[in-house]
Amino acid sequence: MPASLIAAPLLQTRLNGTAPHRQGKVRDIFDLGDRLLLVATDRISAFDFVLGSGIPDKGKVLTQLSAFWFERTSHIVANHVISTKVADYPADLQGEAAVLTGRSMLVRRTSPVPIECVARGYLSGSGWKEYMASGTVCGTPLPPGLRESERLPEPLFTPATKADSGHDINISEAEAGRLVGVDLVARLRALTLALYEFGARHAAGRGIILADTKFEFGLLPSGEIILIDEVMTPDSSRYWPADRYAPGGPQPSFDKQYVRDYLESIRWNKQPPVPSLPDDVVARTRDKYLEAFRLLTGKEVE
Ligand SMILES: Nc1ncnc2c1ncn2[C@@H]1O[C@H](COP(=O)(O)OP(=O)(O)OP(=O)(O)O)[C@@H](O)[C@H]1O
Ligand SMILES: [Mg+2]
Repeated sequence: MPASLIAAPLLQTRLNGTAPHRQGKVRDIFDLGDRLLLVATDRISAFDFVLGSGIPDKGKVLTQLSAFWFERTSHIVANHVISTKVADYPADLQGEAAVLTGRSMLVRRTSPVPIECVARGYLSGSGWKEYMASGTVCGTPLPPGLRESERLPEPLFTPATKADSGHDINISEAEAGRLVGVDLVARLRALTLALYEFGARHAAGRGIILADTKFEFGLLPSGEIILIDEVMTPDSSRYWPADRYAPGGPQPSFDKQYVRDYLESIRWNKQPPVPSLPDDVVARTRDKYLEAFRLLTGKEVE
């Protein structure tokens, strides 16, 4: 599509003139009492910084792909989704339908469990770094001689905590148990691996490797654990095109490869000020997000 026909990216949300109560790197969060309204903007981050340019429709891809997975995994674990239809939202939000349609989700508010539940089927990223240093991933010893991006003998549960800087720190399962309780960690581990296995199998059937992914869980006042946040999106996962898979080095990232390549090419020092992206990098990155959505769901983004 010519760049002139692509809508401008949504970089921040205001609803009836009100700013979000909280802003993540990508999502704007509006507090509605016992419910939250999550709005996925078109912001994109790389190396832990939000870049100066957005990727038009990226927020729709993230929201609609999460909705796709929430629906298909509800037999494994209940989730926070109340509705993604603006018509079901509170009356005072109906006038904001143009902004909210396709990129927002009304969810049950929970107390988030303060660990990130990562499942890894392949040796990459911080897992590969730890393996090179110590032969382990999150403290679990692995066979010697594995190559970067190699498939693991079996998927691993590798919990992490969020540092204040926003950077994730890998922790052992024992440490996770000390943080949130051994019984809870055992349940999160089982859910995380079941969800990963479900997603990886689905993706494999569509020519995509789900190398790893991060889940978040929340507790309801009743004590029930539910799946929250976003699910198996390109932002929370490593997706690799299966036909280009070649262990022994890093794999092309499905979505952010052009962004990373560009940032390397201008030798950005990964400190503010953050760069903006040229139009062609934006357009090609947008195509990648849309392609991931199309391949995984068999549908077009609405
Ligand atoms: N149902 C829910 N109940 C409570 N909090 C939730 C729920 N779903 C998602 N969240 C929280 O909302 C936030 C989503 O925002 P977002 O992912 O953009 O930012 P972030 O995770 O704080 O930062 P990052 O940019 O590093 O991802 C997360 O903090 C997540 O834990
Ligand atoms: Mg997040």
